[in-house]
Amino acid sequence: MRLVSWRAVFAAGLFWALISGTLGMDLSTRESLLLKSLGLSAKPSPRSPAPVPSVLWRIFQKREIPSPWSPGQEDACRVEEFNVPGNIVRVFSDQGHFLHSGGPRTLLCLEKHLYFTLSVLEDGEQLTMAQLQLQFGHNSYRAPGPGQVFELRLYRAPPPSLRELPSPAARRRLLLAQSFAQLHKLLLFNLTQVGRDWRTPSRNLGLVLEISVSSGTGSSALLGRPPGNFCAGADSFLDASLLVVSLQPGQCKASRKKRSSYYAPVMPSSLCKPRRLYISFSDVGWENWIIAPQGYMANYCLGECPFPLTTELNSTNHAILQTMVHSLDPEGTPQPCCVPVRLSPISVLFYDNHDNVVLRHYEDMVVDECGCR
Ligand SMILES: *[C@@H]1O[C@H](CO)[C@@H](O)[C@H](O)[C@H]1NC(C)=O
Ligand SMILES: *[C@@H]1O[C@H](CO)[C@@H](O)[C@H](O)[C@H]1NC(C)=O
Repeated sequence: MRLVSWRAVFAAGLFWALISGTLGMDLSTRESLLLKSLGLSAKPSPRSPAPVPSVLWRIFQKREIPSPWSPGQEDACRVEEFNVPGNIVRVFSDQGHFLHSGGPRTLLCLEKHLYFTLSVLEDGEQLTMAQLQLQFGHNSYRAPGPGQVFELRLYRAPPPSLRELPSPAARRRLLLAQSFAQLHKLLLFNLTQVGRDWRTPSRNLGLVLEISVSSGTGSSALLGRPPGNFCAGADSFLDASLLVVSLQPGQCKASRKKRSSYYAPVMPSSLCKPRRLYISFSDVGWENWIIAPQGYMANYCLGECPFPLTTELNSTNHAILQTMVHSLDPEGTPQPCCVPVRLSPISVLFYDNHDNVVLRHYEDMVVDECGCR
């Protein structure tokens, strides 16, 4: 067997060959080929993996178990939950740090730099959605007093400058501002435009998040009280993450039916047909970064392509002629090969090299049908 193209690496038959070592390469070469075919430069080893966001579990489970009223009709290259094109969903965890504001600014409850490593997106990927998610530990914190509100501001972080003046705080640009009578457990902001801009690494300086308490009327009634009282709600800030949907068009086939069935054990036959093969990710040593599935039914093709070829063997005219020649001259011409003729996709949920959680759709991972070619 010979490695034909990158596309073919996706074929479950080759996946098996790579894992089982029948291609005669050393283990690390095989592993890096596989990882590259999955879009990764190296084997991830999550250090402090964040919990899997529930939205990713929901999308993953929906793909695993297609709804009974539209079996196999879902478009692999659309993320229905958000109604946008895409075959990769990533949740980036925030890499920014808390900022120490200069003077005593008692009404400023929280000031934090937010940074997401969007550089992991590959060149061909089209970013179709970016959503900032801010999580708080408790629901429904009310502002400290009557007429008072929480003010949330997001600024584009300023570029570093050599001269100290004007101060960084003065140079940052306001992106959005919103007032809340009470904070909620989860706040969502559409950052699609900003996310696209961040694809250029030099422009990705991150954001500054600021939460303060203000009396809507601008009175100074808040002053003179200990700051802890104002900020009880904002203090429950847990973390920020950026959900990004992207489309890798090269890995996106026209919508088609998902695998129709698993293979029930049939009469033993030496004819070319799919054979059951379960690939367990823990057998490959990948269980600490692949979150789900733990393995999957990849199958492979094996069997004879004898003369005369019947229609069940999905042969080409060329293969039929080849078997004829083979039957006349078995030494000089081999039988046609038993190869996958129909493959279907799976979705994989995993941690990437930066501890982000990724849900990605991979074409041609399961052998559905074999044929003599
Ligand atoms: C988010 O913003 C983008 C670009 O500004 C816009 O095209 C898209 O419709 C917005 N999405 C939602 C859900 O509002
Ligand atoms: C291959 O043969 C099987 C069995 O006859 C048939 O169900 C299937 O549609 C064929 N597939 C292709 C790609 O021709």
